[in-house]
Amino acid sequence: MSYDTIEANRRAGTFADHDELWLFGYGSLIYKAGFEYDERRPATIESWVRRFWQGSHDHRGTPDAPGRVVTLVEAPGETCFGMAYRITPAHFEYLDHREKNGYLRFAQPMTFADGNVEKGLVYIATPDNAAWLGEASIDAIARQIAASTGPSGPNRDYALGLADALRAHDAHDDHVFAVADRVRELIDTES
Ligand code: SIN
Repeated sequence: MSYDTIEANRRAGTFADHDELWLFGYGSLIYKAGFEYDERRPATIESWVRRFWQGSHDHRGTPDAPGRVVTLVEAPGETCFGMAYRITPAHFEYLDHREKNGYLRFAQPMTFADGNVEKGLVYIATPDNAAWLGEASIDAIARQIAASTGPSGPNRDYALGLADALRAHDAHDDHVFAVADRVRELIDTES
């Protein structure tokens, strides 16, 4: 599989036949939409956890020195907090380009605070994609993040921004908080 999933997403056309849909964001899409939307609501999805296991060769790293960004990993019994945006398929050109480094469009049920459940769109990078980095210790992940930078800026800004956004929504995430705390420690030892 190539790093670039734009063509695969276009061909699969998931949600392309909808007039509007809910997009579930769990990474940078929580704190940086970068597009106009009709409505935005906190939501959760079941049986997935967020992990810094996906390589970023295009946003927060480079092909030679990839950074690490989050993807979702299946975890029965777990709940993942995120932000849902009501959008139209006209957004796919922007979103497929933004998430092109290994992420595919999936349809997943998401639950809103009022208990309402809707099937929506989630971009997930699965372990078979070419940019997958996989599991590593919290320290190794944090060191890679602290050292990486790419066209969208330092990888540390992504990790710390995500942790701050989750805290702002009172959402807990052991993995993200542990990585962000270790990144902060590493930054403190730089000066
Ligand atoms: C997402 O935010 O939903 C996908 C991963 C990312 O762009 O950080």
